[in-house]
Amino acid sequence: MINIKVTGTGSYLPKNVITNDDLSKVVDTNDEWIKTRTGIKERRISQGEDTITMATNAAKEALKDSNLDSKDIDLIIVATLTPDNFMPSTACSVQNNIGALNAMCFDISAACSGFIYGLEVASSLLKSSNRKRALVIGAETLSKILNWEDRGTCVLFGDGAGACVIEKGDKGIEAFHTHSIGEKGDNLTCGAYDVQNPYVSIKNEVNEKYIKMNGREIFKFAVKSISDTVGELIKKTSWELDDVKYIVPHQANVRVIDYTAKKLNIDNDKFYTNLDKYGNTSAASIAIALDEMNKKKLLNKGDKIILVGFGGGLTYGGAALCWNV
Ligand code: ACO
Repeated sequence: MINIKVTGTGSYLPKNVITNDDLSKVVDTNDEWIKTRTGIKERRISQGEDTITMATNAAKEALKDSNLDSKDIDLIIVATLTPDNFMPSTACSVQNNIGALNAMCFDISAACSGFIYGLEVASSLLKSSNRKRALVIGAETLSKILNWEDRGTCVLFGDGAGACVIEKGDKGIEAFHTHSIGEKGDNLTCGAYDVQNPYVSIKNEVNEKYIKMNGREIFKFAVKSISDTVGELIKKTSWELDDVKYIVPHQANVRVIDYTAKKLNIDNDKFYTNLDKYGNTSAASIAIALDEMNKKKLLNKGDKIILVGFGGGLTYGGAALCWNV
């Protein structure tokens, strides 16, 4: 049986650190509110780095970590809700920047679940073809789609990118569980271009081009998504929850994680978090966390971990894997 394993990780975060106090000079907010409601203390905000640049830098690190040359890569998938262009895709631009001449490249749109969806799509493509190695990247410049006058959302997000290399191997990703709930999509939105052309008579702009969120609904959805996904993955792998060393959740809100830990009756420490430093980086957050854990040497060969994401769409899902790097 063909399995898919992670063989390298990388990340890139803008150098510009914005603390909660810094934000209180931009909107009517304060450190205490943000910290107690979300757990976020600071985030990185781009001062010019775009999604392609951050994705490229994360990809280069992941290649180095896996001891591969860019020409060894057969597939590049970038998960992002903040591409720099409608075309070319972010993945094709990364291909050009790193010289991955042999790769098939495309982007996917699944908001904060994008990295998990990307992993599943890449794994399936590797398994069903003669392609051997893929780069899966989550990259976001969320600061460009935030309403910087809306304190309810602009304090939550940050910019950054994370990447991993996956390859065919004997042991690795053991199960996926992914799902979408389009009927609840209105709870988390960001508009794009309206239909405007010489044949449209009313030229009202209907789409709001920044992130809007029903925070309370998303909170409930997030807790249910994480707990359902972990439960499904435990069933599919026949693992015991006690055997799982870390759950690496989408880094949205520490209170979501606290509630979920209580619901699953597990220790908060099983959840790896770094959202205090980076805020919510959407499709990038799980990949950035994984790279941080790899760099800190928190993971040993054979460790069982669960990655789990949730976000706009609505989308959610996770992957259960044995660490292999
Ligand atoms: N600073 C100070 N006060 C604020 C701020 C702020 N940044 N934002 C809102 N408030 C105020 C509101 O105006 C309101 O004041 P009022 O009572 O005088 O009207 C009060 O705080 C409560 O506002 P709520 O919006 O009801 O706050 P809530 O307790 O629901 O917390 C939060 C908001 C943190 C967003 C919460 O709903 C949440 O965590 N939701 C989950 C969000 C999430 O995880 N999103 C990301 C997942 S999806 C993705 O990653 C794209």
